[in-house]
Amino acid sequence: MRSPRLAVPPLDLPGEAEPSFQADLRRALAAPPHAISPKYFYDAEGSRLFDRICGLPEYYPTRTECAILQRHAADIAAQVGTGSDLVEFGAGSCSKVRLLLPRLQPRRYLPIDISAQHLQLAAAELVSAYPGLVVVPLAGDYLGPVRLPPALPGARRVGFFPGSTIGNLAPQEALQFLRGAARLLRGGGLLLGADLVKDPAVLHAAYNDSQGVTAAFNRNLLARANRELGTDFDPGGFWHGAFYNAALQRIEMHLVSRRSQRVRLAGDAFDIPEGLALHTENSYKYTVAGLQSLAGQAGFRPAAVWTDEQALFSVHWLQAPDEMDGRKDG
Ligand code: AVJ
Repeated sequence: MRSPRLAVPPLDLPGEAEPSFQADLRRALAAPPHAISPKYFYDAEGSRLFDRICGLPEYYPTRTECAILQRHAADIAAQVGTGSDLVEFGAGSCSKVRLLLPRLQPRRYLPIDISAQHLQLAAAELVSAYPGLVVVPLAGDYLGPVRLPPALPGARRVGFFPGSTIGNLAPQEALQFLRGAARLLRGGGLLLGADLVKDPAVLHAAYNDSQGVTAAFNRNLLARANRELGTDFDPGGFWHGAFYNAALQRIEMHLVSRRSQRVRLAGDAFDIPEGLALHTENSYKYTVAGLQSLAGQAGFRPAAVWTDEQALFSVHWLQAPDEMDGRKDG
């Protein structure tokens, strides 16, 4: 057993003390569009299931992005620069940053993740693998207002947002996130992973894996509600629906009710008709030009991009505006 006592307890990001899972689930059950944020997938169990997804043969993004980071680590470090104050958005298991650390040599690493427990273990493992590394884990929702500890004097702030997590956001929300990041990272930049538009069959397979791990990940939302909110969902009473919406350039995931059923949530009962689709996730896909254009609108200067030979995935170095720019809106 690892000792969690070795871990630095994550600091809480300011913001909502408790993400309003109950209120958001209630809203999703009560009325169209019957949608809930995918951030609720990630309790400890959901984070474990997601780690399993990352190792699936059909799920190309993780392994492709890791190969890109590994292959181009020296080039990436040359662009980004060493000695940075490195902030990761949605760090999860903190495994991707390891591919960069030997070359990037940041002065400090601040992983942000919504799953405090998962983050604490990951940070502890990282510290024991890199004893000299200063790690400051931050528990919270990085889509909310992010207030970081004061920047290290003389260190450029660099953001790391891998995994195409940006794909969970609708383009307008992604733009808003990027605008916030451009402010936060002024004088530095953002290293961003984005999944690319491709043959829908490849996408379909990635979100409908043969071992059913993605389906279990999707249903964990209901199992989590049962654990934390005392609902009485039968997760098996919903099928995992994932398909590519080409018009909107996104994978959609839904939980579709197999029959008419009733679920109780904190004293209220919701009647769920057969076929009702609870929309649990969007995963937007980008072209390189599309992503660069969005980043440009947010004030970044796209400076470099790395992809794999099959053009499945892209990693972007986006330079943030200079320290002097845009002070007024800060
Ligand atoms: C973590 C949002 C990048 O969209 O591919 C994986 C989540 N959902 N399989 C993705 C996910 C189903 C993943 N992101």
